[in-house]
Amino acid sequence: MKWNQEFSVGIPEIDEQHKTLADCVTSIEQAVIGRERWLAVHSALQRAVDFARIHFAVEESLMRIHAYPMLGEHIVEHRQFSKNLERLQEKTLTADVSQEMISFIRGWLEIHVPTYDMPYAAHFFSNANGVKQVVAAKLGRPCSDGAPRVSSVLDGVLALQ
Ligand SMILES: [Fe+2]
Ligand SMILES: [Fe+2]
Repeated sequence: MKWNQEFSVGIPEIDEQHKTLADCVTSIEQAVIGRERWLAVHSALQRAVDFARIHFAVEESLMRIHAYPMLGEHIVEHRQFSKNLERLQEKTLTADVSQEMISFIRGWLEIHVPTYDMPYAAHFFSNANGVKQVVAAKLGRPCSDGAPRVSSVLDGVLALQ
């Protein structure tokens, strides 16, 4: 699955994570198309499950910090995707994972990023100044200008502890 600029949400760290998720889908596809052994398909799926968990946790934390009003719906979508991936992984124990199932996962990603992720990014940008002030107060120094960088927001969260 090729990531292209059309999928950019405008936050470099999130784009990088989406590229990694797209790479995970490619690895699963290649393992299935190449009729690789069970272990290769299973471990490609495991990597996708693990990375999706990290990515969703990052997005959901950011949406909470930014008081994103559509957080609930977004979490439901993430849980559904994770459940589908886990179901695919269970299938590898008893049957072949079909190309059709992989297309389903790829389709989910292609729809999720523009439909669900781009709107939260737009909300972050419109809400950036308020969040920067809160984070800057916690850090005791101003945040850098430009996009609301994930790292500076995470610094602020860590400073709360
Ligand atoms: Fe998302
Ligand atoms: Fe995402």
